[in-house]
Amino acid sequence: MKEIAIFASGNGSNFESIVAKFNHHTSTPSNGSISLLICDKPEAYVIERAEKWGVPTIVLQPKAFSSKTEYEQRVLEELKHYDIHYIVLAGYMRLIGPTLLEEYKGRIVNIHPSLLPAFPGKDAINQAIQAGVRISGVTVHFVDEGMDTGPIIAQEAVRVEEAESEQSLAKKIHEVEHRLYPKVVQDWIDGKVWFKEGKIKWRK
Ligand code: GRF
Repeated sequence: MKEIAIFASGNGSNFESIVAKFNHHTSTPSNGSISLLICDKPEAYVIERAEKWGVPTIVLQPKAFSSKTEYEQRVLEELKHYDIHYIVLAGYMRLIGPTLLEEYKGRIVNIHPSLLPAFPGKDAINQAIQAGVRISGVTVHFVDEGMDTGPIIAQEAVRVEEAESEQSLAKKIHEVEHRLYPKVVQDWIDGKVWFKEGKIKWRK
């Protein structure tokens, strides 16, 4: 069994969709288990969701540490303690620094609410509305040192209607995320997709 940690900072709807699949076998039994939530915001709703699903939670606020390196070293200690092999970012509102990246190279994935490389960073849904695009979507990618720049594993498009509001686009994007992310994480844990020598590889 591969132990997985989810990192989240807010609402946690993606956290819940993944936990539902992995820890409660809503579909085929998995090789992975969500064993830990790492959260950087004590007020985040995701903490309540984790409690409901019985997932241990560690809340660590970066401002309580003297540097990002120290914060990440502490996170690393917790990951080791829980024997975590994979990291899944789900609305974690921070850049992963070198301390975690070096230790978990190729073992961190993220989901972003746009078709990258369009609209990286914060507020991607609003950025898409403001730009007037007719198609946006969802991207799952490996994490590197950049902001939403890592190798792309999967994407799905979402149509943006005329006069679409940020709220309605967010709803459509979330629906896609909750279906796509658990499936891609499952494929990854099952060894169907990996990153090597600068390329994404899929097992045939
Ligand atoms: C998602 O839209 C995800 O793409 C982005 O942050 C949002 C998190 O939503 N990275 P939730 O907290 O999972 O509901």
